[in-house]
Amino acid sequence: MSVLIGKLKLKNPVMVASGTFGYGLEFKDLVDLDKIGAIVTKTITLKPRLGNPQPRIFELHYGMINSIGLQNVGLEIFLKDKLAELKKITKTHIIVSVGGNTEKELLEIIETLNSEKIAAVELNLSCPNIIGKKIISQSAKQTYKLVSTIRKRTNLTLITKLSPNVTDITKIAKSCEDAGCDAVSLINSFPVLFFSPSLVFGGLSGPCIKHIALRMVYLACQTVRIPVIGMGGIMDVNDALEFFRAGAKAVAVGCANFANPQTTIEIIEEISRINAMNVNTNKYERNL
Ligand SMILES: Cc1cc2nc3c(=O)[nH]c(=O)nc-3n(C[C@H](O)[C@H](O)[C@H](O)COP(=O)(O)O)c2cc1C
Repeated sequence: MSVLIGKLKLKNPVMVASGTFGYGLEFKDLVDLDKIGAIVTKTITLKPRLGNPQPRIFELHYGMINSIGLQNVGLEIFLKDKLAELKKITKTHIIVSVGGNTEKELLEIIETLNSEKIAAVELNLSCPNIIGKKIISQSAKQTYKLVSTIRKRTNLTLITKLSPNVTDITKIAKSCEDAGCDAVSLINSFPVLFFSPSLVFGGLSGPCIKHIALRMVYLACQTVRIPVIGMGGIMDVNDALEFFRAGAKAVAVGCANFANPQTTIEIIEEISRINAMNVNTNKYERNL
């Protein structure tokens, strides 16, 4: 069940996706954190952010739209109150998701995280709901430039999270690999518009994006040698297995955590049961 993402060895290939599991702490009474392959924290920025105005979560029949706008406590409080606390209650790998408006801001966060015992950094270059800001991972050139600069400043396992809203995902994934990234994760939620009744820009996630995600994961896996972490609409083990079949080395569960916080654990247990029975690894073209 174990899997290597850069230097990082996960005991199983199932993670929780950034922003859907809080800072991990919020789920401590609901989920056995130690069983999860890795907890990816909410994206943090250098300074605290209030995020977008309410309402910002919209439930749909086929998924959800969120317009959180990267609300978070900021780096300092995150390290002192959230990360320190999370480390006390779990031995599970912690991947810190980082975001920022400028290269300078991202570098400051990375350099601070260099002295923290964390498993990896996930660069969120794909948030769809920061009004007025461009999504960096829509440009292969800008992604390459930013990831190479960050790569030079950290030895931590570096993962870049990509946007689905691009013409050619393979070019973006390749730019991350060329820039020295250890892995790419895809997909972030899909940029959409919603009337609530006022106009909201948000990110679409859930079952309705699964087949978009699968295609992008497949294409990225055909192009890069670095591991691809797949996500988008994973609600159960069958969805997860489809991502492995597309070539993903690991998967992350996103908005399913809101409907059933046990989803990740159920998927891990099912994969382990399938392994124990030694069935149909060929069917899924992956030796789990
Ligand atoms: C409420 C909510 C908040 C999210 N916040 C973040 C975030 O802070 N950083 C990030 O990289 N992705 C964030 N995402 C995107 C998810 O991590 C994931 O990429 C996306 O939702 C697709 O997976 P899913 O369909 O399983 O939810 C968020 C998604 C949701 C639903």
